Amino acid sequence: MDFQAYQQVVHMLTQGTLCLMEQAEYEAKYDHEKPLMVLPIQGKEDVAHIRHVIDSFLQERIPNWKDPARNRILVGLTEAVTNVVKHTPGGQVLVYIDEVGPRFHVLDEGPGLKLSSLSYLLFAKGFSTSGSLGAGFPVMMAFFKQILVCSSPEGTKLVLRSDLSQASEELGGSGRCS
Ligand SMILES: Nc1ncnc2c1ncn2[C@@H]1O[C@H](COP(=O)(O)OP(=O)(O)OP(=O)(O)O)[C@@H](O)[C@H]1O
Ligand SMILES: [Mg+2]
Repeated sequence: MDFQAYQQVVHMLTQGTLCLMEQAEYEAKYDHEKPLMVLPIQGKEDVAHIRHVIDSFLQERIPNWKDPARNRILVGLTEAVTNVVKHTPGGQVLVYIDEVGPRFHVLDEGPGLKLSSLSYLLFAKGFSTSGSLGAGFPVMMAFFKQILVCSSPEGTKLVLRSDLSQASEELGGSGRCS
């Protein structure tokens, strides 16, 4: 199956929660934007630090940055950052604030997510190449409104979009690839 067909199938199956993107699409959509915050991911000590710094920053900037959505978003973000620590040599988190909530770009210089195993690692609870729980992606899928994935052998970019105006029960499954 070619990339575009795969992109469409993933979009339809997840009702827009998950979108696959090519590098050129990512650049056209996001390269002109300036992040509000850039945090490096180098080792496991960065995971808790990043969570704390971003939480404090958003508390000051977003009036409705409150539980339960706040906690879920931070848990989802922690999974993405932990994956960079576990599966890649390192990367960074960029923070943006959209009209409806925070958006995080988690970028790394790892080996990329293989298209052939994407369906397992994104949808199957328990799929892991590291003998771990394999819960990271299913958690992110449940806690973010939308996830954009742009991956190649040079690295992976995840765009994690949230919507604080939605009831927490409705998170996931309502995004659009736009
Ligand atoms: N940034 C990444 N770069 C390359 N491969 C990744 C990346 N993130 C995840 N993966 C691959 O996807 C698989 C599934 O990731 P997921 O987070 O769901 O599980 P895990 O990290 O293995 O276990 P857990 O998150 O439960 O500790 C990983 O085992 C790994 O092979
Ligand atoms: Mg993980």
